[in-house]
Amino acid sequence: MSEKTITIALAKGRIAKHTLSILEKMSIQFSEFTSDTRKLVIWDDSKKYRLILVKAVDVPTYVETGAAEIGIVGKDVIMEEKKDVYELLDLESSRCDVVVAGFPDEKMDERPLVKVATKYPNIAKDYFDKKGRACDIIKLNGSIELAPLIHMSHVIVDIVETGTTLRENGLVVLEGITSSSARVIANKAGYATKTEEVRQLINYLKEGMEAAE
Ligand code: PRP
Repeated sequence: MSEKTITIALAKGRIAKHTLSILEKMSIQFSEFTSDTRKLVIWDDSKKYRLILVKAVDVPTYVETGAAEIGIVGKDVIMEEKKDVYELLDLESSRCDVVVAGFPDEKMDERPLVKVATKYPNIAKDYFDKKGRACDIIKLNGSIELAPLIHMSHVIVDIVETGTTLRENGLVVLEGITSSSARVIANKAGYATKTEEVRQLINYLKEGMEAAE
């Protein structure tokens, strides 16, 4: 592997597909990539960029440890994982909101202790602490909207994209916490040693985004 190769940790799924479509606009081709591929390491045709396809929640870890110089993942995950990395670019894709949701008649402020189910324990805890509300965080890994329905929690902290999951389960957004979109993050030491290569990739991504508009 050449010294100047860049390894990019990509969140599998929509972020991966979107990123590759941007890079292809700049003639960086990943011929081996298909949306249903089971391959975990994919080189671009010029062998300058190596993609590793990983679970979104693991992207910041690959980048912080230096296993990848670059990572592309949602801001929601970056906020939750709190890793020591640079955030270099907002790709403005995969937009969603991080919210507190629950039943329409939920009165969180009247509860001495709010039970919160979430995939995002750090974001939820930081938000409830800032509001001065005592909370009990219940960490789940999926189907978060179920928790209030079966009285496991009073509210949830989760992402909302189209709003369909909330609507179909009789829940509503109670409070917005932040908005999220796909971001490019970089390993700090990798950025120092491969500054030119990283900057060139960032420029390709910026130009590819403009070309895709
Ligand atoms: C996410 C999120 C919500 C849903 C929001 O779940 O946790 O449940 O998408 O999208 P919507 O507003 O468009 O309905 P995901 O699809 O990742 O599945 P999960 O429940 O297994 O986490």
